[in-house]
Amino acid sequence: MFDCRHVIARCRWLPVIILLALAVLIPETASAQPPSPLSPASTEAKTIADLFTVVFWVALGVFVIVEGLLVYSVIRFRRRHPDEGMPVQIHGSTPVEVAWTIAPAIIVAVILLLTLRSMRTLYTPPSGTINVEVIGHQWWWEFRYPDLGIITANELHIPVGEPVSLKVEAADVIHSFWVPELGGKTDAIPGHTNQAWIQATQAGVYKGQCAEFCGTEHALMRLEVIASPSEQFQQWVQGQQAPPAVPSGAAARGQQALVTGPCAGCHTIQGTAAQGQVGPNLTHFASRRTFAGASLENTPENLARWLNDPPALKPGTLMPRLGLSQETINDLVAYLESLK
Ligand code: CUA
Repeated sequence: MFDCRHVIARCRWLPVIILLALAVLIPETASAQPPSPLSPASTEAKTIADLFTVVFWVALGVFVIVEGLLVYSVIRFRRRHPDEGMPVQIHGSTPVEVAWTIAPAIIVAVILLLTLRSMRTLYTPPSGTINVEVIGHQWWWEFRYPDLGIITANELHIPVGEPVSLKVEAADVIHSFWVPELGGKTDAIPGHTNQAWIQATQAGVYKGQCAEFCGTEHALMRLEVIASPSEQFQQWVQGQQAPPAVPSGAAARGQQALVTGPCAGCHTIQGTAAQGQVGPNLTHFASRRTFAGASLENTPENLARWLNDPPALKPGTLMPRLGLSQETINDLVAYLESLK
């Protein structure tokens, strides 16, 4: 007869084998490394990562001690023979109970003090800052530099080493601004302004993501922070402040189509009749690395696909399928890609 005990005895190791296999396979399949708060590139993110490191090692110490005692007790006091009786039962030990009450209290108090110290660092506004208004929209990010007269989308440019003050708001529903390598999450709430700061310590492109579920395209509500040396940042500022080049040829036809067509109802291009406020400001569209909530690389091919059928690339997007002719799409692409 089939003896299922052997199978069960073998299957006891099955969960362990599956977990080990997953531990080996998962890092292999995760191709692009997601941004980690544990590789901080700003003063704020470093404050958070340092606090995490302390809490992690304390928690690991507690885990090892508690589990060690548990495993020791299970082995040391196990029933060795079937006819062995119950081990000696004890109840209550004042020194032990005092110890395991006071030790956790001290640990929690130390962590509380370290947390308060980190919070003071994070919530003290730095002086001499660049001000940026961060506005969450379904499903893209708007960045306004009120002192510099710049409005852009999905791409936040900051100079390395200088504190940047962020006023985080939302236009429709609650979003959350999160760039793991540069700092903690800041909720973007309609009708309420939250404050945050970034002081990047290294130049680089840092990926961010909306961190509060906000509808269909929450996952494709991404952003990039481009931290560059002061000189490069100033060049970017000048580029954004300058009026875009006057279009000619196909680009001029594209401008005509944009300004007189449905696009102008939602988008602004400075210096033209297009003054819509619903979608991203496109004045310097071609200077951006990405579009559509940083979900698509800014290439003429992607832009043509997008203009042809936005919901096909980003289901749920507020930009509708406009039924544009291929010729109009080509002209629009020529125009938008000329807006350096
Ligand atoms: Cu915006 Cu999630």
